Amino acid sequence: MNLNVTPLSDALGGEITGGNFSKNLNNNEKEFLYNCFLKYHLLCIRSSKLSSKELYKLAIIFGTPFTEVTRNHWDLEVPEISILNSTYVNLSDKPKNPKLNRRNGWHTDHSFKKDPPKATILHAHEIPSYGGHTRFCNTNKAYDDLPKNKKEFLNSLSAVHCYDTQRAPARPVERTAYEIKETPDVVHPLILNHDETNIKSIYFNANRTDRIVGYDRKKSDEILDEIDNHVTQNKYRYDHKWNIGDIIIWDNRCLIHSVNVDYPIKEPRIHLRTLIKRNKN
Ligand SMILES: [Fe+2]
Repeated sequence: MNLNVTPLSDALGGEITGGNFSKNLNNNEKEFLYNCFLKYHLLCIRSSKLSSKELYKLAIIFGTPFTEVTRNHWDLEVPEISILNSTYVNLSDKPKNPKLNRRNGWHTDHSFKKDPPKATILHAHEIPSYGGHTRFCNTNKAYDDLPKNKKEFLNSLSAVHCYDTQRAPARPVERTAYEIKETPDVVHPLILNHDETNIKSIYFNANRTDRIVGYDRKKSDEILDEIDNHVTQNKYRYDHKWNIGDIIIWDNRCLIHSVNVDYPIKEPRIHLRTLIKRNKN
């Protein structure tokens, strides 16, 4: 086996080199990748550009990919793979104030759902000349650093996650009546026990976590603001500067992420994406 892993930062992540990912990997290589994923929480697989079919074959090493709600992004040949074009075609497409853009907000994917995906995979096909980094914070490290009494307190709490929350600075895409019915508010424990490694992480989404169960809005906001400030410190953070061909897989159970929305207009930024179910089967 020629695969190697090297840490990407002190906070999180491993870089995988030495493979040809357009070919079928053997069982040793698959096991190596999966163990590295659990250990580093994020892998950057250095690869050439893969087709949707090739990416799908790599994705199933990590579990079961599923189709996203928004059908207009699906690759019709492989609907579990979405093609995301985040290019700014016109000047007006680029956010004037990044703080008011939802992609800039720190989140874990789909936490407004009862069973959010365990992992997300992004594969860079086109990258602008600057900016557009995807940024990650390690909420397991952030949890581990807390004093014992704070850990005990947070372990006793649950939070309501909503499709939209007044805490987020900008509104998401409006849902149809059917989609509203499909996405009721859900409650998740504030501290998530990782179902495969048993590590604990702060489960927080600046775009979706609305309130702490059993507290009034003011006290709940105080708790959530403190968490927000704590988990996004630089010591827990890794910013990924994309190369064409990079495949990033990250663990939504112990990382949050956001996008640096500052990149030039008219320069293509295109990724393939798929989400992996939390249960392996
Ligand atoms: Fe995301």
